[in-house]
Amino acid sequence: MRSTLLASLAGYTGAALSASVLLSGGTIIAFDEDTNFLNVIRDGALLVTDDRIAGIYEEASPKGIPVDAEIVDCTHKIITPGFIDTHRHGWQTAFKTLGSNTTLAEYFMTFSSYAAGPLYTAEDVYESQLAGLLEALNAGVTTTLDHAHNMWSTERAEAGLDASIESGARVFWAPALDPTYDYSVPDQINDWKRWNRRSFPNDLVTLGIAYDGWDVGAPEDTQAVAQLIKDAKPAVLTIHWLGGVWPIDSSPSLVHSFGVLNTSTAVVFSHGPGLTAAQAELLRATNQFISITPESEMHYGHGHTFSHLVHEQAALGVDTHLTFSTDIITQARLWLQRTRSRLFDEVMHHWDIPSRNPSWCPSYFSPPGACSQLGTSLSVNQAFLLATRQGALALRRPDLGVIKVGAKADLVIFDGRTPGMLGWADPVAAVILHANVGDITHVLVDGKFVKRNGKLTYAKYAELVERFLASAEKIRKDFLKKPLPVLTGSFFGAEGYAFYGSAKDVDVVRGKGTGYGPLFRGADDKTTANVAAPGSRHDEL
Ligand SMILES: *[C@@H]1O[C@H](CO)[C@@H](O)[C@H](O)[C@H]1NC(C)=O
Ligand SMILES: *[C@@H]1O[C@H](CO)[C@@H](O)[C@H](O)[C@H]1NC(C)=O
Ligand SMILES: [Zn+2]
Repeated sequence: MRSTLLASLAGYTGAALSASVLLSGGTIIAFDEDTNFLNVIRDGALLVTDDRIAGIYEEASPKGIPVDAEIVDCTHKIITPGFIDTHRHGWQTAFKTLGSNTTLAEYFMTFSSYAAGPLYTAEDVYESQLAGLLEALNAGVTTTLDHAHNMWSTERAEAGLDASIESGARVFWAPALDPTYDYSVPDQINDWKRWNRRSFPNDLVTLGIAYDGWDVGAPEDTQAVAQLIKDAKPAVLTIHWLGGVWPIDSSPSLVHSFGVLNTSTAVVFSHGPGLTAAQAELLRATNQFISITPESEMHYGHGHTFSHLVHEQAALGVDTHLTFSTDIITQARLWLQRTRSRLFDEVMHHWDIPSRNPSWCPSYFSPPGACSQLGTSLSVNQAFLLATRQGALALRRPDLGVIKVGAKADLVIFDGRTPGMLGWADPVAAVILHANVGDITHVLVDGKFVKRNGKLTYAKYAELVERFLASAEKIRKDFLKKPLPVLTGSFFGAEGYAFYGSAKDVDVVRGKGTGYGPLFRGADDKTTANVAAPGSRHDEL
C-alpha cells in the first residue's frame, strides 16, 4: 500500500507493486567491505525488498525467497549500482545542442544562471528539470547532486524542487544561495528555511545548499550563508571551485576559514583547476571531495591539471548536460582515457615508450602506501568506483553506489547480449568501455523500476515531452535573439591577469581557410547564415 501511494505521487502509477523483487541469473558487480573492493558474482541473484538490497546470492535461484517475490530474469545481464552524478544543473535541459562550441568564458554570458534567468518561467524550470532528470534515469544515473542555480525567484526556485520530487530520481537538491536580480540572499535563506521545514512526499529528495560567493560575494551574504550551514547542518554543501587561470577561487582553505568545511555537512567542490598539494591535504584531512566533470572541463576549457592526483577524494559529474550526454559511464570512460593519455604523454615527453598501463590496485586504501601510484593510476575498476561508490562517499552516503546487503536498491541492469556488449568476459570493462545508454534494460531507484525493458516507466512521459518541447522552443527563440558575446580584453574586466587568449584553429576540410563552419541552431536562427561563412575565421592565415 505504502509503495503504491508513493509511486503514484511520483507519477509512477504502473510501477512496482510487489514488495520484493528477485533479479535472477545475472553477473553482479558487488562491493566487498572486507577487501574494500569490487566483487564480481557470476550467475547470481539479488533480492530487493522495499527500498533495500535484502540479499545477494551466488546462485540464480536461491532458497528462502519470499513467496510473493516477483522474479525478473537477468540471465546474460550485468547488474551494477546506480551511477552517481555529483555535479549538474538540471534546469538547463532546454538549451540542448546550443552550446556545442561554447567556452566557459562565453558560457558566463550565455547559458549561466546570470545570463539565462530572464528566459525561464517557473513552468519552464519545471519541464527542463523533470525532462533532464528522466534523461538521467534513462541513462542509469540514479543519484544527482543538483547545483540548482535556477534561483531567480521563490516560484522559479520551487519549480525545480517540485520537479525533482516528481522525477522519482534520488536528488540532492542544492539551491544556490547567490544573489540574483530581485532575489536577495536574505530572501533566499528564508525560503530555504521554509523548504527545510516542508515534508516531502518521499525521502528521495534531500535539501542541500550551493554557494559560490566565498571570495567574490558580499561579506554579509557569505556570513549569513555560513551561519545557516552551521545552524541547519544541511546534508551537503556544493561549490564551484575554479582558481588556476581563473580570478575566482572558492578553495577548500577559504571555505574552511568560514568554519563550514570540517562539520557533518558533506562538501563537494566542482572542478577545482586551482588544486594544490595543500588544498588536497585539506580535502583529505576533512574527508571532502572534488567533482571531476571530465567532459565539461575539456569542452569549456576549465582546466584540470592535477585532478587525477586526488582520486581518493574525487567523484564524477556531468555538469551542463545541455552540451553533451548525461550518462556517467561516458564520463568514467572519458576520464579513464584522459588520465591514461596524460600519463603516457609524461613518459613520451622524455622520449620514452610507455611500457605498462597503470593497473589495478587490489588494496584500494589499505594498507597505507600499498598503492603509492593510486593517485596517478587508473584502471576500469577504479573508473567504475569513481562513477559509483566515490560519488556516494562524496555525499557521505555509504548506503549508495554499492551493491551490498542493506544498501539502497538503486540498480542498473545492462543487457550483456546487445551487438556492442556481446563477447565480454570482464563485466567492469564491459560497462566502462563498451556499454552505452541503449544497453541499459532496467533501472531501479529505491527498489522501484524507473526504467523497465528499455523504457522509462514514468506514466506521464508522453505529455511531458510535448510540454518540454514547447518550452524549449520558446526559450531557444528568445536565446537566439541575442548575439553571441565577443570576448575582448580580460575576464570581466580583471586587471593584470585573466586576459583572453585564443586557441589554435584546426580544419577538417582540405584547403586554405576552410573555416569553422556554421552552427545549425534551428529553423528560427537568423544569425547562423552570416556567422561563419567558410573562411571567416581564417582569412588572416
Ligand atoms: C576537523 O575536526 C576534527 C574533529 O573535530 C579535528 O580533530 C580535526 O583536527 C579537524 N581538522 C581540520 C583540518 O580542521
Ligand atoms: C562557435 O561557433 C560560432 C559560429 O560558427 C562562432 O561564431 C563562434 O566564434 C564559435 N565560438 C568558439 C568559442 O569557437
Ligand atoms: Zn557547474
